[in-house]
Amino acid sequence: MPRVGFAYANRYPDLVQVISVINQKGGVGKTTTVSNLGAALALAGHRILLIDLDPQAHLSIAFDRMPDPGDPSVYTMLAGAHSLVDVIQPTSIEALSIAPTNLDLTGSEQEFSAEIGREILLRDALYKLEELEDPPEVVLLDCPPALGLLSLNALCASKSVIIPVQAEFFALQGMAQLHDVLERVKRRLNPDLDLVGILVGMYTKQRNLSREVVAELRNHFGEVVFDTLVRVNVRLAEAPSHGMTIFEYDRNCAGAEDFRAVAAELAVRLGLSARRRQASADEAPPAIVELVDHVLKPPMPPQVVPPLEAPSTATETVGDRGGED
Ligand SMILES: Nc1ncnc2c1ncn2[C@@H]1O[C@H](COP(=O)(O)OP(=O)(O)O)[C@@H](O)[C@H]1O
Ligand SMILES: [Mg+2]
Repeated sequence: MPRVGFAYANRYPDLVQVISVINQKGGVGKTTTVSNLGAALALAGHRILLIDLDPQAHLSIAFDRMPDPGDPSVYTMLAGAHSLVDVIQPTSIEALSIAPTNLDLTGSEQEFSAEIGREILLRDALYKLEELEDPPEVVLLDCPPALGLLSLNALCASKSVIIPVQAEFFALQGMAQLHDVLERVKRRLNPDLDLVGILVGMYTKQRNLSREVVAELRNHFGEVVFDTLVRVNVRLAEAPSHGMTIFEYDRNCAGAEDFRAVAAELAVRLGLSARRRQASADEAPPAIVELVDHVLKPPMPPQVVPPLEAPSTATETVGDRGGED
């Protein structure tokens, strides 16, 4: 593929879907989603690459793949010292690989701030995807808990966005700001960017508040909210400390069941099977599924957290499967 031309034109191999898992709030389940959704997709037969863009390196630590200082990492890749191929490491799941980071990434936002094209360092690095023998079908980017330069790099490198939110009172807080950033990135830097799904986590069916927050999110964002609600499940919190995804740690627990269901929904939204069939038929890939475009113009959430005093009367439309495990 030519390496000259319009800087923002998408030049990835046609079949690669790059997805930012983003929310500027910490502790909402970004890393949990990247590792377990990635693992679920890989176990369903898709080739998946996870990229750790958070200087806290939680994803890399969870896979026990944190590079030593100076070794190839997402930081050295963004700095131009190493290529993507050098950085990628295998995991214990065959179809799942990771581009890990270490604490060197801390301070990189300042370091790269004077670079020309500072928002597209990651996108540039990911053009090397075309050099991989067996390129991934999906790349999941684990974003830091801030809307700084690293998150902008993620958004400029992505085709789609998944926003994990907690089924808590403050779920909608910050969504207006995030929506505004997505719109500006779309307008100025990456016109192809689409919101592919909002994923509700830490859901407890027995809690009124959980149900009210889900109703509120569905009210604002409609179908773009995944049907699957990821339940509170202590196994999901335990798995990383054993260096495992939920499928290696306890493949039958509620957390594993939920992430399998999210993976199935995402595969449909991205048209993964259809894309693969097209790939094997060696035809042009389809445009991203129309469903995605169709659901992507949600009404703007209000600037403030909506009042949730009155118990919601909304009925549970999404399986009757929430609740503590
Ligand atoms: N569904 C869940 N049930 C129980 N604990 C969870 C669940 N999802 C995430 N956690 C835990 O919550 C904490 C924050 O999640 P994490 O994925 O690290 O969030 P983020 O990456 O957005 O900061 C972690 O300790 C994680 O193990
Ligand atoms: Mg994280």
